Amino acid sequence: SSVQQLPHPPFRLPLLGDLLTVRPGKPTQAAMRDARRLGPIYERLIVTYPIVIVSGVDLLAEINNEEHWTKNLSPLFRLMRPIARDGLFTAYNDEPTWHTAHNILAPAFTQAAMRGYHQSMADTVAELIDYWSEREDRWVDVAEDTNKLTLEVISRTGFSYSFDSFTRADTDEHPFVAAMTRGLRFVNRNANLPPALHKFPRRRVDQQTKDIAFAKQLVDDVIAARRREDPDSTRDLLGLMLNSSDPTSGKSLDEKNIRHQILTFLVAGHETSAGVLAFVLYFLANHPDVAARARTEVDERWPGRERPDVGYEDVAKLRYLRRVIDETMRLWPIAPGYFREAKHDTTIGDGRYRFDQGDWVFVLTLAAHRDPGWGADHDEFDPDRFLPDNLRALDPNVLKAYKPFGTGARACIGRQFAYHEILLALAHIIHTFTFEPEPDYQLDVGEQITLKPRGFRLRFHRRHPHS
Ligand code: HEM
Repeated sequence: SSVQQLPHPPFRLPLLGDLLTVRPGKPTQAAMRDARRLGPIYERLIVTYPIVIVSGVDLLAEINNEEHWTKNLSPLFRLMRPIARDGLFTAYNDEPTWHTAHNILAPAFTQAAMRGYHQSMADTVAELIDYWSEREDRWVDVAEDTNKLTLEVISRTGFSYSFDSFTRADTDEHPFVAAMTRGLRFVNRNANLPPALHKFPRRRVDQQTKDIAFAKQLVDDVIAARRREDPDSTRDLLGLMLNSSDPTSGKSLDEKNIRHQILTFLVAGHETSAGVLAFVLYFLANHPDVAARARTEVDERWPGRERPDVGYEDVAKLRYLRRVIDETMRLWPIAPGYFREAKHDTTIGDGRYRFDQGDWVFVLTLAAHRDPGWGADHDEFDPDRFLPDNLRALDPNVLKAYKPFGTGARACIGRQFAYHEILLALAHIIHTFTFEPEPDYQLDVGEQITLKPRGFRLRFHRRHPHS
């Protein structure tokens, strides 16, 4: 690397670099604190390789420029390759299957395409509402239950499969869900260890091998059943992948790749939306003024006491709720950052920082989203920041650095999908319940690749009796 003389944490050690300053539990929150001390670009040495962490909005305007920079499949994401191979998220930029899959799937993720998933999403949300209605007198772990919702939404719309998340007993986790949770925990653990330690302990490595094999088998069985029973359908993402081809190249996806796309969607499409929904409920429960305005927006549209009939067209009209979501993802971007690499030798910051082709950096969205350019109150929750007039008044680079869904060609394909399911769920939740927060809860943000409010519980009280 040609990265030169960047600020770095004090107490750097000869052999371990800055390893001891990495708090494995909350690495990106620690990096955000370092960024405030060390500035818009700094370097953290982990064992043998340096990680350059960028959070200054002016530098990011350059690093997000696709002419000179592109996605980097970091060591962290490479650890997921055994699970998802050349699925969209973990594909290398030059893997031909990325282009084929992107071109086949992009039409399935436009806002208009959400019409096709709307009813299935609404039915699943209704299950969550019933689930919480039956637990009115109990404290529920919010992130655990929003996870159930989003897993069901993506598995039903993705490949017409249900994990029966709302009907099985709490102690009876679906084996696929257990395998996936263990699998991601393993990846997360190795991300904080030098590669030489990744193959130990044997027991964990063997478990990982078994978990991956199990997940692949389940998906392959679903694909085989579809081929037998309903081979021509394009009713879900699986059908689309089996029965359409890339309009530009004419190529279609082979069965192995389809398997990896499904695993990718199950992982990328569920923890993320679930985390956002949980953080939104955290903010609503702790900001009664915001909750009241959200409730007004929903009640004006559905004044009745019965379950609201939220149609596809209604969702995009929930402008206040949308601002609540955007402000939530500003303060707690569920994906706290993304990786970029130089496409060729280049510089940023008026020539101050030089990078060779292939050098990579970590963009710390978590810190960039709290740039002082948002105002002196940049750590405070205020959805009105996202009123169009207020956005126009921002320094353009501050706004351009708002990237909860990543950037460029490799940005999130599920963005509209996520907004649609989260807005739809919120409209129902807010119409049905008030939220009682635990009096002593202090926000504790856990990091398992994505961020999540840990130990956050609410009691949901129905506003109207069951209809
Ligand atoms: C990529 C965030 C929901 C599927 C990404 C990236 C981010 C992100 C930051 C870029 C990663 C990188 O640069 O390396 C989010 C957030 C979500 C969300 C915050 C929820 C609020 C979803 C959903 C789906 C999905 C619902 C699927 C239904 C994907 C896929 C990619 C991706 C397939 C890889 C795209 C590619 O490289 O072609 N997401 N995501 N995401 N996301 Fe999402």
